[in-house]
Amino acid sequence: MDEISRIFVVGATGAQGLPVVRGLVQDGRYRVLALTRDKNSARARALAQWDQVDFLEGTFADEAVLRAGMRACQGVFLNIDGFNTGEKTETYWAIRAYEIAIEEGVRFFVYGNLDYTLKQAGYRSMFRTGHYDGKGRMGEWILAQTRDNAGRMGSALFTTGPYMEMAFSAQTPMTPAVEEGVLTWRVPLGQGAVVHVALEDCGHYVRWLFDHRDRANGMDLAVGIEPVRYADLAAAFTQVTGHPARYVDTDLDSYFARFGGIAALPAGYNADPKDKSTMSFRDNFTGFWNTWKHEIITRDYALLDEIHPGRIKSAQDWICRHEQQAAASGGESLWQRVQPDTLPGRPILKLSEDHRRGIL
Ligand SMILES: NC(=O)c1ccc[n+]([C@@H]2O[C@H](COP(=O)([O-])OP(=O)(O)OC[C@H]3O[C@@H](n4cnc5c(N)ncnc54)[C@H](OP(=O)(O)O)[C@@H]3O)[C@@H](O)[C@H]2O)c1
Repeated sequence: MDEISRIFVVGATGAQGLPVVRGLVQDGRYRVLALTRDKNSARARALAQWDQVDFLEGTFADEAVLRAGMRACQGVFLNIDGFNTGEKTETYWAIRAYEIAIEEGVRFFVYGNLDYTLKQAGYRSMFRTGHYDGKGRMGEWILAQTRDNAGRMGSALFTTGPYMEMAFSAQTPMTPAVEEGVLTWRVPLGQGAVVHVALEDCGHYVRWLFDHRDRANGMDLAVGIEPVRYADLAAAFTQVTGHPARYVDTDLDSYFARFGGIAALPAGYNADPKDKSTMSFRDNFTGFWNTWKHEIITRDYALLDEIHPGRIKSAQDWICRHEQQAAASGGESLWQRVQPDTLPGRPILKLSEDHRRGIL
């Protein structure tokens, strides 16, 4: 396949984008052109430490911006923020981004994807999750186009899932609280399991896709640590840190009551609340939790072991690594991080840092 030296990254300053960019540039193999709406944000400045990272300021919801970024690069990693756009607008820009990439001569296109849960669950509405289906439908569409456009541009899907980090961060669907000295997760998961993803491993996987384009072309690389049952997560936390933890299965009404007025707002902060297609936060995350509760999503862990033998293989492994790294660097332990005075200041998502604001 053709040589690729520079990759246009959409979503570079995000929770997922930061390790992806690091994985691409840290040994100097690739350069990155990072799209951001604000190159002076703290996260953009953190990326600017790499000599191999340049910035393009603008929005993905602008053809001229997409065109400029794609014309300057041979590779694309596209993670459209569905929590900005909402499902309907995400669909449009995913299609246009793919088409523009072909037109501008991009050689390899990696689409930041999520599972098409509605389809995987047999088209039953209780599993409809706008921020998953909005990507998953487009993932299938991109693979279908890839069969037609093989001579012009290769593509692959990078299908992820809820970051493990979100179970230890503020303003996420699985934010915990320390209740009378016990780290407590109250979520509507029943006996089900969340296929969490380690952000650290995303850098390795996306790098692998660009390094192995012949094999990766047409592939859906669907990643995960393991199916994480929250009673097991709590037990692992106690085993590694020595601090008490528990999981409390919670009904949907009690769960959403915690979010107050946010539950009725559109899941995508720039989606039109008057548009009947717009899913509310509550509807969207009802499908999300039903998906995990009924264990709709699976992974090929043998493939992941082959591609990334050193991958994080369990929630306990993730907690151990975090604690070891914190001890080595003098950083914060998980127990310190989850304390009520500390947790709100450590959002893993840029969206939370920006208080769900920003232009489309
Ligand atoms: N949360 C999870 O566990 C999870 C897991 C897998 C996939 N996802 C999906 O990943 C996407 C969000 O990425 P993230 O998890 O990295 O979230 P994040 O930390 O909130 O980052 C959002 C990213 O999107 C960029 N962005 C937002 N609107 C933009 C626009 N109009 N033009 C250009 N860039 C824009 C932001 O860049 P600037 O602010 O610098 O412009 C930032 O890089 C969502 O679609 C979500 O469904 C999330």
